[in-house]
Amino acid sequence: MVTGGTSGSPEWTPDSWRRRPILQQPEYPDAAALERTLDELRRLPPLVTSWEILDLREQLAEAASGRRFVLQGGDCAERLDGCTSARITNALKVLLQMSLVLVVGAKRPVTRIGRFAGQYAKPRSEEYETRGGVRLPSYRGDIVNRAEFTPEARTPDPQLLLRGYERAALTLNFIRALVKGGFADLHHPEYFDLDWVRHSPLAEEYHRMAATIRDALRFTENVLGVRAGESDRIDFFTAHEALHLGYESAQTRRVPRRPGWFNLSTHFPWAGLRTNQPDGAHIEYLRGIENPVGVKVGAPVARDQVARWLDILDPLRAPGRLSLIHRFGAHRIAEELPRLIENVRAEGGKVVWICDAMHGNTQLTAGGVKTRRFEDIRSEVEQAFDIHREMGQMLGGVHVEMTGENVTECIGGARGLSEEDLTRAYDSELDPRLNYEQSLELAFLIARKMQNGAVGR
Ligand code: PEP
Ligand code: CO
Repeated sequence: MVTGGTSGSPEWTPDSWRRRPILQQPEYPDAAALERTLDELRRLPPLVTSWEILDLREQLAEAASGRRFVLQGGDCAERLDGCTSARITNALKVLLQMSLVLVVGAKRPVTRIGRFAGQYAKPRSEEYETRGGVRLPSYRGDIVNRAEFTPEARTPDPQLLLRGYERAALTLNFIRALVKGGFADLHHPEYFDLDWVRHSPLAEEYHRMAATIRDALRFTENVLGVRAGESDRIDFFTAHEALHLGYESAQTRRVPRRPGWFNLSTHFPWAGLRTNQPDGAHIEYLRGIENPVGVKVGAPVARDQVARWLDILDPLRAPGRLSLIHRFGAHRIAEELPRLIENVRAEGGKVVWICDAMHGNTQLTAGGVKTRRFEDIRSEVEQAFDIHREMGQMLGGVHVEMTGENVTECIGGARGLSEEDLTRAYDSELDPRLNYEQSLELAFLIARKMQNGAVGR
């Protein structure tokens, strides 16, 4: 059995983070109401189980040693009203299809982790937002307050924690049902929407990859008699940023017959860039749970800080326990990543390396719209593969913000979305996401990169 972290450590409790400096937490006007809500959350049943968590941890251990690839993706921020049948199905569809494309390139199993069923709390660079001389608290995600610019909407409301928790449960309930049956067809390339492919100079190659997937599926179904989707092997794990520590710790429990504490609101919680300080509350919280945990890294970090993260979060250097999700941006990754890799190695780290190709590539258009260029995202992922390979190891996975919907938030891709297109279907309250086609295209490009890399570029 996998054990790790420091859950046995006497000074850690699900609430020991309260003694540490904490950033990015909402200010609730009524502290007693918040405590009552957290008490209610403590009594509600968990969303995930300890055995699923340990299963993911084992899969991540394989990713750490290059025997698996991780696809982590989903919305920047889930919305309470986004909990609909169509959105959930579309999100699963795009993740599943991307993962099949990646299998072709990686020639390894792919683990799917959705940024869903709990990705509701957001860090913000500004505490307040001012519009027309009016200053209100920033929107911090649907589990904290609401996006409309009114004092009522922006006041943090503890009840939203319960609404988020319930939506997470509804989302997961539907996902589990879909995975169990009725979802298998989405595997088949016939169900891929590949209309965009003809706009790409790589169209032929993409069609070849799709044909490879089709043949492999036919083989398993007709020859081996395993109907894809009937087996329990298609799993989806959940992940979210462990930002609202009241919410996270209320769902942190012991389970019968297993040592340690588990965050049972998600399989894979991570600390975001703004809350990853080794001395801070968020790292203290992550230290004591048995879940695999992630840390976003996006700024230059000295060896000393790398050592602190590893000693605090992964003192046993257990593969699968810690993932470092780097997000330097296409223009900085070449300068920053090699040093990070060297420092982790020097400290004996056996982490899963995941490239978040989104958050270092956000920019504003001249008109003030937040966007990302498909080319930057592609460039960062490709550089990540090269840098890891040049340093004698493997990139273990990618982290993307994407949606199964036909939005226009990122520029570029085979269809060549332009700045003007951004006004057409811009649906994100926060970061711009790849749409369905751009997500699939990125998967094809990554698969291609993995294939070409294997024979020496
Ligand atoms: C995010 O993942 O949405 C996010 C805020 O990322 P980061 O912490 O890397 O900025
Ligand atoms: Co984001």
